[in-house]
Amino acid sequence: MPGRVLITRPIPEPGPERIARAADELVANPNDRPLPTSDLLRQVAGFDAVVCLLNDRIDGPVMDRAAGCKLFANMAVGYNNIDVAEATRRGILVTNTPGVLTEATADITWTLILGVARKVAEGDRVMRAGTFPGWGPLYMIGTEVSGKTLGLVGPGRIAQAVAERARGFRMPLLYQGRRDSPEMEALGARRVDLETLLREGDFVSLHVPLTAETKHMIDRKALALMKPSAFLINTSRGPVVDEAALVEVLKAGRIAGAGLDVYEREPEMAPGLADCPNTLLLPHLGTATTETRARMSALVADNVIAVLEGKRPPNLVNPEAWRDSAAAPSSP
Ligand code: GLV
Repeated sequence: MPGRVLITRPIPEPGPERIARAADELVANPNDRPLPTSDLLRQVAGFDAVVCLLNDRIDGPVMDRAAGCKLFANMAVGYNNIDVAEATRRGILVTNTPGVLTEATADITWTLILGVARKVAEGDRVMRAGTFPGWGPLYMIGTEVSGKTLGLVGPGRIAQAVAERARGFRMPLLYQGRRDSPEMEALGARRVDLETLLREGDFVSLHVPLTAETKHMIDRKALALMKPSAFLINTSRGPVVDEAALVEVLKAGRIAGAGLDVYEREPEMAPGLADCPNTLLLPHLGTATTETRARMSALVADNVIAVLEGKRPPNLVNPEAWRDSAAAPSSP
């Protein structure tokens, strides 16, 4: 039962090509910018599946307009942009792209750890400005990474890949999670509560999904627990951190610095953040490699094609919806 598919913004191959072969019709929005809500509402009607991105807000009104849609296939591992409870209530399937972006995201986490600790962006700015005064024993002194304690908030795949990379740096590892993670324990990490992790971590790196529970998990109180010599690293979702509180803490020198890839109100930053010299700020590059984006695109296609063929998609985030889904084959 192939059908019609919408892709809200250009994505790399091989997904579009594969979907186009399987579907009756593929409509791919040609504009490489997030669809304004009014355009999304106008364009989303009449499709069996919609491929959406992390900056498409998929909520009740969008689902009203998308009547008959069986699947929202997010090209991201995080799916906080989708009201999954509402989709489930309506029997609409939601899928994401886990696993294929773990290594790239762990790499960008390490880029931030090393970059902020060793003042890489500051150094680059000095060279470009032509203001390098020449080597000096007191000049642009950073923080050693090797041997420092790495605290990983969240025990998932990306945190594990970050932990694996820490082995070469001989870092004691702490992690926070609801229960013991055999994978983390196998990497030598010790489970502690968030408070202990914040107090003991020299680098505190966030790897939790954004939910009602994790929103502002790192607030003023949490930041106050960190050592003045510690760095905060965030490659998860911006709203996990109270960004205004982070700016205050950075400005007051109450922590050593922050490496951020995500922001509370992307693409904007909290006022003052850009003026803090002790930050390394990246524009949400976690998954931005040719290889990873191609794998994400392929996984999106797997999910869409499965649903078009009446099969359960491989990366279903709301399995409860499958039973009630219009895509599911009717029970015998
Ligand atoms: C990227 O931020 C993702 O969730 O895939």
